[in-house]
Amino acid sequence: MCLINVSNLFTEHTMATPMEDVGKQVWRGALFMVDFILSNPVMFRGATVLELGAGTGLTSIITATIAKTVYCTEYTELETSTITTFLCLIFADAAVEFSWTKEEVADLNNTSIIIAADVCYDDDLTDGLFRTLHRLCSNFPHTCTVFISIEKRMNFTLQHMDVSCEAYDHFIHCMNQLQDLENGQCSFRVDQLPSNFDQFILYERVEQLELWKVTATPLPFKPARSDPEAF
Ligand SMILES: C[S@@+](CC[C@H](N)C(=O)[O-])C[C@H]1O[C@@H](n2cnc3c(N)ncnc32)[C@H](O)[C@@H]1O
Repeated sequence: MCLINVSNLFTEHTMATPMEDVGKQVWRGALFMVDFILSNPVMFRGATVLELGAGTGLTSIITATIAKTVYCTEYTELETSTITTFLCLIFADAAVEFSWTKEEVADLNNTSIIIAADVCYDDDLTDGLFRTLHRLCSNFPHTCTVFISIEKRMNFTLQHMDVSCEAYDHFIHCMNQLQDLENGQCSFRVDQLPSNFDQFILYERVEQLELWKVTATPLPFKPARSDPEAF
């Protein structure tokens, strides 16, 4: 099952975009993610996959050729409190535009893989992404694997009098925080993956492209001491 309206997604693609329209361009991070997915079909076969910040939806569309179900989500103007509302839909047809049906919400619990390509370029947005990942993964009753692609965009700043990538530094900070988190529900393990997987798509595989994996594993339930059932 592929829950994507392909025609809507592709009519929006452009080759260059201002900041407010970044989702209308296919970014290198998406192509890099696609290469990773096509290089690891066994991992994705039969899986329920959720893509966050999908933009044109290209990664979801290609993932849907392998996975069982792909939920392709994107920010929408309907949700004005932007950062906390990562979960909106882009795949719906006109009748159910941007709304989740009860069945879809229930099925979301089957998500075993989350993908996010090039969505960590702004600190507030990165914070929103990590809050969303934390919330989702803490509620899944099973292990969930998250793949995040990021392009380290280096800039010269007067503040540092050097080239730096503050968005990347913030991303790494959030990854470390997630790994150190002890919320009693879930443990998070963070790994950077090697970038030498096969290339199926024509684009420049610059060395600044990185792929990160987060493994979220539910912790065994520990009843509270005051719980009479505990003893
Ligand atoms: C650089 S684009 C990447 C798009 C696509 N993943 C790709 O790599 O081609 C960042 C995406 O994040 C989306 N985005 C921005 N703020 C968001 C939010 N609060 N919730 C969900 N998505 C958001 C943008 O609309 C855009 O599609």
